Amino acid sequence: MTEAASDAFVAFERVQKSYDGETLVVKDLNLAMPKGEFLTMLGPSGSGKTTCLMMLAGFETATHGEIKLEGKPINNIPPHKRGIGMVFQNYALFPHMTVAENLAFPLEVRKIGKSEREEKIKRALDMVQMGHFGGRRPAQLSGGQQQRIALARALVFEPELVLMDEPLGALDKQLRETLQFEITRLAHDLGITVVYVTHDQTEALTMSDRVAVFDDGRIQQLAPPDELYEAPRNSFVAQFIGENNTLEGTLERVEGERCTVRLDSGEVIDAKPVNVGKAGERTKVSIRPERVEFDPELGPDAHTLKAEVREFIYMGDTFRTRLSVAGNDDFIVKTRNRADQVRLTPGQSVTIGWLPQDCRALDA
Ligand SMILES: Nc1ncnc2c1ncn2[C@@H]1O[C@H](COP(=O)(O)OP(=O)(O)O)[C@@H](O)[C@H]1O
Ligand SMILES: [Mg+2]
Repeated sequence: MTEAASDAFVAFERVQKSYDGETLVVKDLNLAMPKGEFLTMLGPSGSGKTTCLMMLAGFETATHGEIKLEGKPINNIPPHKRGIGMVFQNYALFPHMTVAENLAFPLEVRKIGKSEREEKIKRALDMVQMGHFGGRRPAQLSGGQQQRIALARALVFEPELVLMDEPLGALDKQLRETLQFEITRLAHDLGITVVYVTHDQTEALTMSDRVAVFDDGRIQQLAPPDELYEAPRNSFVAQFIGENNTLEGTLERVEGERCTVRLDSGEVIDAKPVNVGKAGERTKVSIRPERVEFDPELGPDAHTLKAEVREFIYMGDTFRTRLSVAGNDDFIVKTRNRADQVRLTPGQSVTIGWLPQDCRALDA
């Protein structure tokens, strides 16, 4: 991490933060971002995401450790000299100013002359498809339009780094999806580096080059979206990202790429040891709903278990079947809606199965 951090564009090095001098809300945070990356901090409320963003922006100071921009510590650079654009959830436009005046503000602060200012404002408004709205006041715009203006204001002085804190949180689903797409497109077209904060996992997975999953003031895992989903490193990440089935048990044997787990219900299964101790210790085994098959023909390596159908939910393109398996009454199986796919009925007994490598043994 420290090696990578030395040539990173943004780096957090062993950063800690306490507001009251007692509890750490950010604990030993290490993060190195290359230029041009779109990184999302994802995590439950209170996990320390906004605090990290505020420290990077310069509105809060780190209690310990260092934050660097292009290799230089930024602790002593005031916020407006950091060249960072910011977008917040609650737009934060100046209500008494027109849209154009709102956009002029960050340019005036940076002593940019009038003609250049007008050119930049026009370009920024066009970028967010709000070219005709320069004369309006924020109150005369819809929520989505206000957020577009907030985005334009963050981009108007052409910052290399833009920070966004739940910028789409107040918008309805459809508008959110449109703006998600626009923000990622703009970021890539302009080549800017983005640190984006959200508690919405779909948003994080669809927008980001990498996602840092936060919990309890720590990064639990930092990885590209597919790796996060396919290869969660611990139980928290497995539960937090996507849908997940958990079976609890005790390790019987751990050997290289395979371990044997005795489930609390008595069945013994093989799994891939990812984050486990030694034989005799507890583990939570994680299996994604789409990796489970009915009446499996997966080969001799596969595992099969008896299950009882609790509920069958028709979802159009997929079927979701809820089962009782090995003491878990909320075991979900997702199957594609194919012409030959059987629709199960509650009470029916079935056999399910999966490949041991799709079954990850994690911390209990
Ligand atoms: N200005 C502040 N003063 C004191 N405590 C704060 C302040 N801001 C945040 N906290 C606390 O720090 C923790 C992390 O908060 P925050 O960074 O806002 O999390 P998130 O953005 O992930 O929801 C929470 O327990 C929160 O109550
Ligand atoms: Mg927050």
